[in-house]
Amino acid sequence: MIEKITESKAFISEIIEGKTIESVIVLGSGMSGFEENYKPLYQLNYSEIPNFLQPSIEGHSGKLSIVNIEGKITAILSGRAHFYEGYPIQELVIPIRTFIMLGAKTLILTNAAGGISSEYIPGDIVAITDHINLTGDNPLIGKNLEEFGPRFPDMSEVYNSELLTLAEKVAKNHFEFKTGVYAWFTGPSYETPAEVNFAKNIGADLVGMSTVPEAIVAKHAGIKTVAFSLVTNLAAGISQNPLDHNEVIEIAEKSKVKLQNFMKEFLSEINIGNN
Ligand code: HPA
Repeated sequence: MIEKITESKAFISEIIEGKTIESVIVLGSGMSGFEENYKPLYQLNYSEIPNFLQPSIEGHSGKLSIVNIEGKITAILSGRAHFYEGYPIQELVIPIRTFIMLGAKTLILTNAAGGISSEYIPGDIVAITDHINLTGDNPLIGKNLEEFGPRFPDMSEVYNSELLTLAEKVAKNHFEFKTGVYAWFTGPSYETPAEVNFAKNIGADLVGMSTVPEAIVAKHAGIKTVAFSLVTNLAAGISQNPLDHNEVIEIAEKSKVKLQNFMKEFLSEINIGNN
């Protein structure tokens, strides 16, 4: 695995002329297009980069943009491959580990999720405070990559409290700030009402099919992570209606401007703070 990550790193490093990457953003369902807010210094399709997996689902373009935000070089990953697409979990996190090798100190993740908490309505944006991994898999399984972090990394603060405080401050200009615990299911089937009820009873506020592998490898390497869910629907059984992927896409499309405007300001604030 380290050979693959090193190969991806060398390839990108040459394209970006040896620049150091400061932050990485992953745009989940409904968020692609956000990269168009910035003039790309470099842009590549994942298919051009060794070992980057091409997402196969709609709404995940599979494009890397390197941009300058407030003087900081930032990698924007538009779209991600998911575990349910059949890839080994260790391969899904190659892009994150590549940018960690290129110097990234901050990771900003976004996703679409189903809402469990009665505090949420579709269209809400929720900052993730913690997660529950219900898949039984973990991207750190296998030989530990000592270059990144220890064999048994602490996970008591995966989502960085300073970045959460900053998110709360910036959110005041955009929407009511809500937080929650994200439960990761593999998908691709949506959860059953019993599974959602189980997730609720063990402390989850959101359900989704992504984000957690990326957050685990970032924490392993000591990277500050923050993650936002766009609540596209009430989870199965919370809503009485059957779930429909097209409705998920529709709500994501309708709400993305709100998330994008917030993200623009949030990223500027992070990078100004890091100056
Ligand atoms: N469950 C899992 N993933 C999701 C959902 C959901 O209800 N909505 C959007 N992504």
